[in-house]
Amino acid sequence: MLLAAACSGSGPQTALEPKGPIGRDIDQVWDLVLMLATFVFVFVMALLVWAIFRYRERPGDETEPKQIHGNSFIEIGGVVFSVVLLAVISVPTVRGLLDIRAVPEGDDVIQIQVTGHQWWWEFEYIDEVAPDGRTLITANELHIPAGVEVYLSMTSVDVIHSFWVPTLNGKRDVVPGRVTNLTLVADEPTPPDEPIPGQCAEFCGLAHADMRIKVHVHDAAGYAAWVEEQLAPSVQPGPDDPLAAGWATFSALCTACHQVTAEDPEGEVVTHGPDKFVTVDDREFRGSFGPNLTHLYSRDTFGSGTFTLDRDHLTQWIDEPESLKPMSPERNDLAENRVLGMPDLGLSPEEIQQVIDLLETWR
Ligand code: CUA
Repeated sequence: MLLAAACSGSGPQTALEPKGPIGRDIDQVWDLVLMLATFVFVFVMALLVWAIFRYRERPGDETEPKQIHGNSFIEIGGVVFSVVLLAVISVPTVRGLLDIRAVPEGDDVIQIQVTGHQWWWEFEYIDEVAPDGRTLITANELHIPAGVEVYLSMTSVDVIHSFWVPTLNGKRDVVPGRVTNLTLVADEPTPPDEPIPGQCAEFCGLAHADMRIKVHVHDAAGYAAWVEEQLAPSVQPGPDDPLAAGWATFSALCTACHQVTAEDPEGEVVTHGPDKFVTVDDREFRGSFGPNLTHLYSRDTFGSGTFTLDRDHLTQWIDEPESLKPMSPERNDLAENRVLGMPDLGLSPEEIQQVIDLLETWR
């Protein structure tokens, strides 16, 4: 079994290779506990093996072993030894817990509101605001600057989820009707094609395993550029544009659930699609029916970080969503604010390609 385990290599989602100070705090507690537990295990096993051999039955020796009962030195010593070990472990544990729970302060802290949905993550950067008052909204792929504290305030619109990026922090439940918090800090910018992976860690229904998170870490300038790009509107094609057919389909069907902010042919910036919120503890959180698609193609993945965003996958997704991800869109009820997945809208192959032609321009 040990040999087989050695073949697994290092998974990208391991808390044992932390990528930030909070992850390192957790990893250090783990290392200490592992070290002490290994010491206790080896010590107890050595005593046991020694006793087995030392006092084994020997051929020809028929005498009964010495009958003993009780030994205050071992009994008291065992209790004291355990208490001392637990006390040693508790110091970094309690300190680490307090550090993790501390609310980061300062002007540079980035505040992000997170909404858990069956089965995707919605992110609203409440301090990143466009001149017309829109906040930065995105989904599943989180972008943060390196070395800066990012404070997540999280809630859910349906069931309990759990936000977990193992290399940056522990997991935190995301509970409907409550706000929970988590701080992320990452050491270094990540290469664009190697974001830090995470995933939902609380069973939340059919596509729980496909409810992933990607964290892209930038340097300060890269983050500022990303924010600027995300706050800009996309473009709604005019009536004579070759993309007009895609827009006709999109604005008639897709905007029942998805929002897009686009500059129309008259130069006016309009947000299409339902503007949905949930209020928890007097705070408004986004409660959209589906991910905001204004800058869909700035993402590398879709379906909550599960599929590479390319024409083939997107074609299959629009044509037959449930062939990619287990969902139950037949139970969607927009009037009841209940969405359980992307429905098959029955578009023709041509309509699907027209919609993708349009989406590809929303970068
Ligand atoms: Cu959301 Cu599991």
